[in-house]
Amino acid sequence: MSQPFAAVRDDVSIARMTEHDLLEVVEIEENSGLSRWGWAAYYAELQGRHRNLMFVARISNPERRRGVSTLAGYIVARMGADELHINNVAVRDEYRRRGIGQDLLKEIMEQGRRLRTPVAFLELRAGNQAALTLYEKCGFKVTARRKNYYSEPVEDALVMTAELMQRLDPSP
Ligand SMILES: CC(C)(COP(=O)(O)OP(=O)(O)OC[C@H]1O[C@@H](n2cnc3c(N)ncnc32)[C@H](O)[C@@H]1OP(=O)(O)O)[C@@H](O)C(=O)NCCC(=O)NCCS
Repeated sequence: MSQPFAAVRDDVSIARMTEHDLLEVVEIEENSGLSRWGWAAYYAELQGRHRNLMFVARISNPERRRGVSTLAGYIVARMGADELHINNVAVRDEYRRRGIGQDLLKEIMEQGRRLRTPVAFLELRAGNQAALTLYEKCGFKVTARRKNYYSEPVEDALVMTAELMQRLDPSP
């Protein structure tokens, strides 16, 4: 299991994703209605140059053995052309609305800032109200709409972007 490097709350910690997390990551993906990556794609991503942009959130599990935690959610992003592209974020159904999605998003945005990336962007289904509200809460704004971008079912995509460097480069 990867070592946590940020205990965001008493029971939640964020850590780099490792290959040991992948069975649970794929299980969460399959239950979250996301476009499918699958085990092999996450594994390949972990071998590549974006592996420092893949995080998991663990929640300690009082009802189980002491010290045992459950993988509650994950986020993966890529860096390209000075932009942080957030690809997937998902939280296990039973752990939603506890701030874990927000913790994961804040961590990846902080990582973008550490890498001095000026902008983050992502795409989402126009009808995904939970994700839209979460992203707005984290400072993203809708900047474009892509007609019929998604299939099964066909749906528009919203493109959202957030400035990352404001805190590091304050205006005079
Ligand atoms: C989107 C998702 C990651 C949010 O995770 P989460 O851990 O429940 O989110 P948080 O608890 O951090 O929510 C933070 C804020 O986002 C908003 N939000 C989250 N879920 C919401 C919902 N179902 N309806 C409305 N607003 C919601 C709220 O403003 C919430 O703050 P609040 O609980 O204080 O009101 C989760 O719903 C999920 O995994 N969905 C399926 C996968 C998915 O759609 N991913 C995004 C692909 S683009």
